[in-house]
Amino acid sequence: MHMRSKLAVALALAGTALSAQAQFKPEEAIAYRQGIMKAQRWNLVPMAMMVQGKMPYDQAVFLTKAQRLNALSSMTADGFVPGSEAGAPTKARPEIWSNAAGFKQAADQFAAETPKLVAAAQSGNMDQIKAAFGGVVKSCDNCHDNFRSR
Ligand code: HEC
Repeated sequence: MHMRSKLAVALALAGTALSAQAQFKPEEAIAYRQGIMKAQRWNLVPMAMMVQGKMPYDQAVFLTKAQRLNALSSMTADGFVPGSEAGAPTKARPEIWSNAAGFKQAADQFAAETPKLVAAAQSGNMDQIKAAFGGVVKSCDNCHDNFRSR
């Protein structure tokens, strides 16, 4: 009985994950992924200003921003579901779906850089922060250069 109900719950949850694409309209997927991108920028910009000395460096604020960006990095690719190539204004290039492995690699590369920024932010060492921040920005740019239209 217990085994059976656990299995039923597991299957129901798997079904939910698999049908996410069918549950959402293309314009909802587009709005979601653009929202994640906006949130990434929201957190990135103050860090950029602190790194560039345009805003006073505050270790606690910087760390919070780095942690938020790190959490968002695991969601970057979620909204690019098949079927959302169009349906609302979007700068997503067709290569996201025709070169899905390449897109995943770009998203994974970004997600590999953000934990380094969190570690650097925890250390509070500005040289380490600058290096890690450069790696993060490079991974944003890399994906935009290859998968976002101008
Ligand atoms: C794996 C690929 C990828 C990574 C990594 C990535 N982006 Fe994007 N970004 C895109 C794509 C593709 C679009 C266009 C999405 C659309 O219009 O549907 C986009 C759009 C945006 C937008 C415009 C959102 C809007 O208002 O429509 C901003 C801002 C942005 N990205 C910021 C960032 C920042 C900052 C980072 C890194 C911290 C980042 N992105 C990392 C692929 C990526």
